Formats: sequence, C-alpha cells, structure tokens
Amino acid sequence: MHDAKRGAGLVWADPAPLLFCAPARYAAARRQKEDPLSTDALKAEYLGAIAAADSLDRLEAVRVAALGKAGGITQLMKSLGGLPPEERLAVAPACQALREAVSGALEAKKAALGRAALEARLTAERIDMSLPAAAQPVGTVHPISQVMDELSEIFADLGFAVAEGPEIETDWHNFTALNIPPEHPARAMHDTFYVRPEHGGEQPEPDCDQQRRVLRTHTSPVQIRTMMTQKPPIRIIAPGRVYRSDSDATHTPMFHQVEGLVIDRGIHLGHLKWTLETFVKAFFEVDDVTLRLRPSFFPFTEPSVEVDVGCSWEGGTLKVGGTSSWLEILGSGMVHPRVIANCGLDPDEWQGFAFGCGIDRLAMLKYGMTDLRAFFDADLRWLKHFGFASLDVPTLSAGVST
Ligand code: PHE
Repeated sequence: MHDAKRGAGLVWADPAPLLFCAPARYAAARRQKEDPLSTDALKAEYLGAIAAADSLDRLEAVRVAALGKAGGITQLMKSLGGLPPEERLAVAPACQALREAVSGALEAKKAALGRAALEARLTAERIDMSLPAAAQPVGTVHPISQVMDELSEIFADLGFAVAEGPEIETDWHNFTALNIPPEHPARAMHDTFYVRPEHGGEQPEPDCDQQRRVLRTHTSPVQIRTMMTQKPPIRIIAPGRVYRSDSDATHTPMFHQVEGLVIDRGIHLGHLKWTLETFVKAFFEVDDVTLRLRPSFFPFTEPSVEVDVGCSWEGGTLKVGGTSSWLEILGSGMVHPRVIANCGLDPDEWQGFAFGCGIDRLAMLKYGMTDLRAFFDADLRWLKHFGFASLDVPTLSAGVST
C-alpha cells in the first residue's frame, strides 16, 4: 500500500525531469539514440508507478506526469521534432512504443481500478433480500365507510344513484317541507341542534324557516332536494352524517343514516317490502332473513312502517336470522302526498316510498360491536380490529364484506 506522499513521490520524482526543460530537449532525444535502453528504463519507471497507483486519482497523476501537456513522454515526443531526420528515425520507434506501452497500461489499470471500485460498492451496499421488509403503517377502512360502500354497491345493483345534501340544513328542508310544520310535536323528538345566526344561521323567527339553519337531524331533507332538482322517475340513496343532541351507549350526537327514495308511477308498499328484503339479505349475506313490518308514524310518510329484522342469540351475540328476537333497523313508508306536492310534483301522478336506516346500527349488528361510542373514539386498536383492508372494495360478485 502506498500512502499519499509516497504515491505522489513516485509520480513527481519523474525519471526524466530533464525532459521538462526546453534546453535539454534535444539532449534528451539524442540520449535516446545513444542509449536506446533508456526508454526501457523510463517504461519501467512509469509502469511501476502505474502498478503502484491504488486509486483513480493517483493513476490520473501518473497519466498527467507521463502523457499530460507537460508530461515526460509528451515532451520526449516533442523533442523528436528537433532532431535531424535520420536520428529521429532511429529513436522514434522506441519512443512510440514507450508511449503506447504507458497509455495501454494506464487504460488497463483504469479499468481494473473501476472494477475494483464497483466490487467494493457491491459488497458494501449489498442488500439482504431474505430479510423481512420494514413494516409500513397501513390504515384501515372504518366500519361506517365500509358499510356505506356496501350499501352503495347493493343499491347500485338495484338501479339507485347516490345523492348528497348539506349537513347544515335549512329548517324548511329538514322539517317544514317534510310535513313537520314549526309547531309540530315531532320536532321535539328530534333533539335538534340549531345554528346560531352569528355562525351562519339566520334569525330564529318561527315563520322564517327558509332562513333558519339546523344540523340536519336525519337524511330525509335529501329527499326534498332530490325531488326539487330531478325529474321522476327517481331512485336514490343518500348516506351521510346526521346530528341529534343525545348521548349514551347506543346514541351519539353525530351518527349516520342512509335515506332511500323511489318516486315513479304506480309505486306501492309491495315495492318497498321487496326492496328492503332484497337489501337486508344482500347486506347481511344471509338468505334466511325475516322482516317484520310494524305500523308506525312519520309526518312525511303515509302509511308509515317500522321495520324489524329477525335475529337470534348465539353465544351471547345477536345474529341476523331466525325470529327469536327482533331488532328495529329502519323507518319507512309511502311518501306523503303533501311532501310530493311541496316539491312541486303532482301527487296524483307520482307516488313513491322512502326509508331511513341507521348505518351505525347496521354496522354493529353485522360486525358485532357493542358500544356505539367506540365508533368515534379513534382508538387505533379498535380501528385495527374492526377496520377493513383498504383495497378490498365491496362487490356483489365477490361478497360485499370480503
Ligand atoms: N327520517 C326518519 C328518522 O330519522 C326515518 C324515515 C325516513 C322514515 C324515511 C320514513 C321515511 O327517523
């Protein structure tokens, strides 16, 4: 191994420093003639320095010293020009051979050093492909989003489009247009959050229900928005967030509903029943599902029906199927003619059904969570346990939940 000094020494202790000074040029060339063996000595010196160069930098220094502008061999070649022709003929071949030998050796050494450097890198930067990959944190799809995707997939197959509406809604869309006038007792049941005027809600005057804003208490205002902007026939679902001032293990101030609306000619309760049965079977992925339709009351449907799904207890958990237990999953009915008229449609021509279903409750029943509040705690352990792989998009053909 050569240290830097020694390497440099080898190079700069040039065997023919004479060749650098112009007055000595002719003497140098002449010397070749008188003593042709001196090219052999030069060659040995240069080749020795090349062999000793242990880095590309040092090799380059040898090249410059030998073949650079002021290099020994370059000077030697130049000095040939000053010789009489016969003398030149006598020494030129040896000089030429010297130059070729040195540049050949430089090339070969350069390639060898390049290969050695590559080898060194390959060894140093070696990657062990057999090691397990570093773990990447991967998020999961929240059960609510998963259920919304499943619902969209199931209803898309039945010809329903997905509609949306604002979560800060006018009092008129949320209540009045749905046949819940300002003094109607049903408003009290909704535990409404009102938006203060300074936060975008207008003056809370009772007769000013177009202006006053609420956090929507259900997804039913999307029925109104859809009927007012689309021509029948209409088939939509509207999944989304809704708000009520309520909180315990089965109620949170924000929760999720999916609204369904069909408006067409000659629609009757049978269509509603078939649609709900088809949806519940596809959603719970069980054929043996019994629905129980109970007469009920909603201001915006007539008749109104509450729908329970038949369940049974299996090892402490409630499973869909059987009829030993019933769980209410949605409210529904035939759209009230007054609601249809409120939206500018002729109720004698257009009829329809609507339903509103708690998404959180569907998710709890299908995937076995017991406390609704955990849905919104953002506890990573819960999300890892109940979440879904992000690339597993629900499809009817492959199973909506796998
Ligand atoms: N909007 C009702 C609720 O939140 C549910 C419903 C929707 C009932 C559509 C009938 C028709 O309870």
